[in-house]
Amino acid sequence: MSAEHNLHLLPQTRQLRALHTIVRDRTAGLDSFVLHSRRIIRLLLEAGLDQLPFAEHQVTTPVGATYQGLRHTADLCAVAVVRAGESMEAELRELLPGIRIGKILIQRDKQSKLPHLYYSNLPPGIADGHVLLMEPMLATGGSANAAIDVLLKAGVREERIVLIDFIAAPEGIRAVTEAHPRVKIVVSSIEERLNENAFMVPGIGDFGDRYFGTT
Ligand code: PRP
Ligand code: MG
Repeated sequence: MSAEHNLHLLPQTRQLRALHTIVRDRTAGLDSFVLHSRRIIRLLLEAGLDQLPFAEHQVTTPVGATYQGLRHTADLCAVAVVRAGESMEAELRELLPGIRIGKILIQRDKQSKLPHLYYSNLPPGIADGHVLLMEPMLATGGSANAAIDVLLKAGVREERIVLIDFIAAPEGIRAVTEAHPRVKIVVSSIEERLNENAFMVPGIGDFGDRYFGTT
């Protein structure tokens, strides 16, 4: 796989696996699914913020010492791929209350599995900064690539896109890294494979349907 250095898999801690165990269970109720997937989303967003540029920044601590710290320097906005990507907005707004959030509506055709772009509405000035692109599922990678193309067309630089994925199939990672090698990918789990319906295995089912309760 090319561009491996741009793939950031969350540390596979026991704690993370315990959260995944709850949300992957087909019997999980809606409230439990939302609670525990949001905890994973929080970890993903924190890891995504780590991919942005920093500058050195000192502060004086309460004991009068100097802490050699860092501060973010990026002009940042987020873009949610509707619909599943909207599941990440609440958590993002808790971390960054004033962040601007664009929308790209892409739906995967149920038969062909190909993504269709219906609508996009991006914050002004998006081309000048960094973008957290929120798309929880990377199955074939078609939807994520279509969303990245929308951002590139709007003038965003490829290396300034951080794709936040909940889970990803090897096929989807390959598709994105081949088409857009400079995009950074943050993901909490890499799945075994895609099945004949282009669903991930073991997977989580339809994330959007499970998160919003439309199954
Ligand atoms: C699902 C999922 C991703 C996409 C992944 O979206 O949320 O957006 O499929 O598949 P891909 O990598 O093969 O393109 P879907 O179109 O089912 O809509 P939803 O987000 O509204 O659930
Ligand atoms: Mg989707």
